[in-house]
Amino acid sequence: MEGRLRFLLSKIVWLALSSSFVYCYDPSPLQDYCVAVDDINGVFVNGKFCKDPKRVTANDFYTSGLNVPGNTSTGPGSTITAVTVERMPGLNTLGVGIARIDFAPGGQVPPHTHPRASEILLVIKGKLFVGFVSSNEYNYTLFTKVLYPGDVFVSPKGLIQFHVNIGKTNAVVIAAAGSQEPGRIVIGDAVFGSNPLIDPNVLAKAFALNLNKVKYLQAVFSSKHNIRDYP
Ligand SMILES: *[C@@H]1O[C@H](CO)[C@@H](O)[C@H](O)[C@H]1NC(C)=O
Ligand SMILES: *[C@@H]1O[C@H](CO)[C@@H](O)[C@H](O)[C@H]1NC(C)=O
Repeated sequence: MEGRLRFLLSKIVWLALSSSFVYCYDPSPLQDYCVAVDDINGVFVNGKFCKDPKRVTANDFYTSGLNVPGNTSTGPGSTITAVTVERMPGLNTLGVGIARIDFAPGGQVPPHTHPRASEILLVIKGKLFVGFVSSNEYNYTLFTKVLYPGDVFVSPKGLIQFHVNIGKTNAVVIAAAGSQEPGRIVIGDAVFGSNPLIDPNVLAKAFALNLNKVKYLQAVFSSKHNIRDYP
């Protein structure tokens, strides 16, 4: 009986902790830093397990390797190398993120949104066509630019955006975001490649397509299963 009680209590504690984890968001960290650790031998602050501040070192705030180009021969001809909290535990709760994006000639980051943060791009190499579309309130207006090295472009949080390498060489972009994990919804993957699939009749009506075209798109997007490969 006592064992069962202990089990239930541990479940309740786990639920309480995991629900506060869900509601943790990063613009207001409430402390200098909360270097992420997986175990509970840390300090519990603001919904996360934080490493004991006395054991934090400079390496918690450091990573390297973004000089190495990503492999662009997969997916849509682009690849993202993101600095995640796993790679840099000190990033946790700080409300910023950064990534390197490599593009093959003709490669693209297909239309996608970042649900949790705006994103700002700095072109290091190449020539890119980038843009985003405003929401219904602003009449779905398309804003685009052709970017060259040194150019900077920002896309507001949550709006559909895309980046295309229109140059003859590889392109390199540094992307920074106002979140340690801005999230990524690739429109084609989410709409035509969801798991399980959305009823094709719904999509046929929604996108003014005949059923066979919807089924074709579902076959393409659900067989890729490379959602995580997509920037
Ligand atoms: C890049 O990815 C492709 C496809 O997965 C693979 O065949 C190739 O070996 C990779 N190239 C490098 C340099 O890792
Ligand atoms: C959107 O379109 C409406 C109707 O034509 C117009 O009144 C409004 O000014 C437009 N708003 C923007 C931000 O373009």
